[in-house]
Amino acid sequence: MEPRAPLVVGVAAYKGGTGKTTVAFNVGMEFARPRGYGGVPACPTIFIDFDPQGNRESSGLTLKQLLAGRGPFRPERVGEIEGFEVYRLEFEPDGLEELLDDRAAGLGAAFLAVPASGDYRRVASRKRVRRLVAGVHDLVRGEDGGARPPIAFVDTPPMNSEQRWVKRVLRACDTIVPVMDPSSPEQITRFLESEHGPDVRVLVLNKDYKPGTVEWEANLERVRRELSKVVGAVDRVHIPDAQVIKSATDLGIPLRMRRSRPREYERLFREVAFLIAQYWQRRDHVTGVLEG
Ligand SMILES: Nc1ncnc2c1ncn2[C@@H]1O[C@H](COP(=O)(O)OP(=O)(O)OP(=O)(O)O)[C@@H](O)[C@H]1O
Ligand SMILES: [Mg+2]
Repeated sequence: MEPRAPLVVGVAAYKGGTGKTTVAFNVGMEFARPRGYGGVPACPTIFIDFDPQGNRESSGLTLKQLLAGRGPFRPERVGEIEGFEVYRLEFEPDGLEELLDDRAAGLGAAFLAVPASGDYRRVASRKRVRRLVAGVHDLVRGEDGGARPPIAFVDTPPMNSEQRWVKRVLRACDTIVPVMDPSSPEQITRFLESEHGPDVRVLVLNKDYKPGTVEWEANLERVRRELSKVVGAVDRVHIPDAQVIKSATDLGIPLRMRRSRPREYERLFREVAFLIAQYWQRRDHVTGVLEG
């Protein structure tokens, strides 16, 4: 079954530095392949960078920094849509060939969108985000593969920065993927209890302990306890704390495109993408039934 309507996925967390940008980048790139793979459809992919720079507690990069300069992507400005600067991402591995895996390289239709004026509050509205996505959909409609609706990944600053507009951004999303630091499971509860609006169906525990260790087992128990307080069925993906993820991301090269990438980590981002794709299909189906 093919998706019928666009999907807007918010990537969010209670605290800073948990890996929101890393997850948005690597998972988004699974959809931005030239062809579908591993149960994840290839579709126009929009990376929406809603994280103002210079206002951060961790030293991670923003989506804009990752996609505009470091890695094998070159942004070509398309224009302004609803107060967002929109760039089409071209794949240009100039000079990075040695780091890239030939088989995993290549990019489908991918876009970067950033609030144009730097006034994030102004564009942090459901209406504008939806119109942005519709605008990109119009851009690709005539193209090869452009019949598919786009998926957007919205990267956000941490919730504890208490900016009201962050909540507005999250309400513009169809679903939210919380990215949690497993070493402090109580922020899971805090995030899920704070009023954010849309569904949470997939949860990422990033920078997790080594699976199977005593620390991992003990923490899993704490995480389960926290989750049982607030949610029913959500899928969880545990992503270990791994230097290879850090170095790939910091270079602006998604893990799957990197030569010598360890398959077991690459698979984890694809699993998140797969779960989102499944949710997308089910959601489309329900909407279709209601409409029909
Ligand atoms: N699984 C992981 N293993 C090791 N390092 C990681 C992992 N995930 C992210 N990192 C690293 O941790 C740092 C912070 O990650 P990232 O920038 O994605 O977090 P963030 O939640 O977006 O942060 P901020 O709140 O500042 O926006 C980065 O240097 C990143 O490369
Ligand atoms: Mg970030």
